[in-house]
Amino acid sequence: MSLFARGRPAAPFPLAELHCHVEGTLQPGFARELAARQGVDLSGFADEATYRWEGFSGFLAAYDRAAALLRTEDDYRRLAFDYLTGLAAQGAIYSELTISPDHAAASGLSPETYLGALARGAAEAERETDIVCRFLVVGVRHLGTDAVEAAARFAARAPGVTGFGLAGDERLYRPRDFEKAFRIAAEAGLGLTAHAGEFAGPAAVAETLDALNVSRIGHGVRAVEDAALLARLREEGVTLEVCPLSNLALGVAPDAANHPLARLRQAGLRLTVNSDDPPFFGSDLTAEYRFAAEAGFEPAERLALTRNAIEAAFVEEPVRKRLSELLTMRALALGAPGSSL
Ligand code: ADE
Ligand code: ZN
Repeated sequence: MSLFARGRPAAPFPLAELHCHVEGTLQPGFARELAARQGVDLSGFADEATYRWEGFSGFLAAYDRAAALLRTEDDYRRLAFDYLTGLAAQGAIYSELTISPDHAAASGLSPETYLGALARGAAEAERETDIVCRFLVVGVRHLGTDAVEAAARFAARAPGVTGFGLAGDERLYRPRDFEKAFRIAAEAGLGLTAHAGEFAGPAAVAETLDALNVSRIGHGVRAVEDAALLARLREEGVTLEVCPLSNLALGVAPDAANHPLARLRQAGLRLTVNSDDPPFFGSDLTAEYRFAAEAGFEPAERLALTRNAIEAAFVEEPVRKRLSELLTMRALALGAPGSSL
């Protein structure tokens, strides 16, 4: 009898994630521990399980405030280790962590020291759980084009970094302002993605494709407003890194019933689901997959979300092949119909 069909799998459902900001994984409990060590008062900011903020600008300020508590190499090592082992316990086989050298600089750490500490945490997590992690460096767009180009230059020379992206306040600057940064990253052979179509409309997604040569779009949900753009995303095989619970918390979608995930699937797009900044949104990757289930994604379609993530991951080809085989085995262990999903 298929346990898969009964929705009570014998093995954890295999998950993968392409879009999660490492500072955005800081759990409030760890934040309070860091604050106590530093004599910083977090009352009214860090609740038991989440942070208090309002609106997108308030969220970005809260993100910076929480990130500023991470000050030492061991803080970052532990951050990566805790997040990745927790993710593996949820069933994840791959995580692409977005890292921000600008946030480390605000804490007085060089990009190299920051990356080295995160890499140690990821290696320890991989030894313990087998989860595979790769790092994607982002530039923060509201810090300006020079800062984003500096982030790209770091990404281009950094060992173990496989991707480059753009985050921050999408209401500032235009995608094409970051052409030079993305050229630097492309010339270094990095995979490319950018947040677009989260707070700006579909025109920003189209300009991101035209100017920045990305193979993935972070969020991209507002593409749903433009049928021609949906057709283009489908034809060009662009993968969307959809973050449903982030969209609800930030007001990008008014409620679950009106979230575009199901409409994007109907349009035939390659979709993944991701947690973005989990404790800020009261989410985790399991909850994002549950959101997809509640939006009508059958188990086979939820496995396809994981398959899409592995296919679009910025990872070396032999590792992609290994992850793909592991996913097939994990799907078989679920008793999944058509295990070649
Ligand atoms: N940095 C962290 N989370 C982000 C989001 N949802 N949008 C833009 N920048 C971010
Ligand atoms: Zn994001």
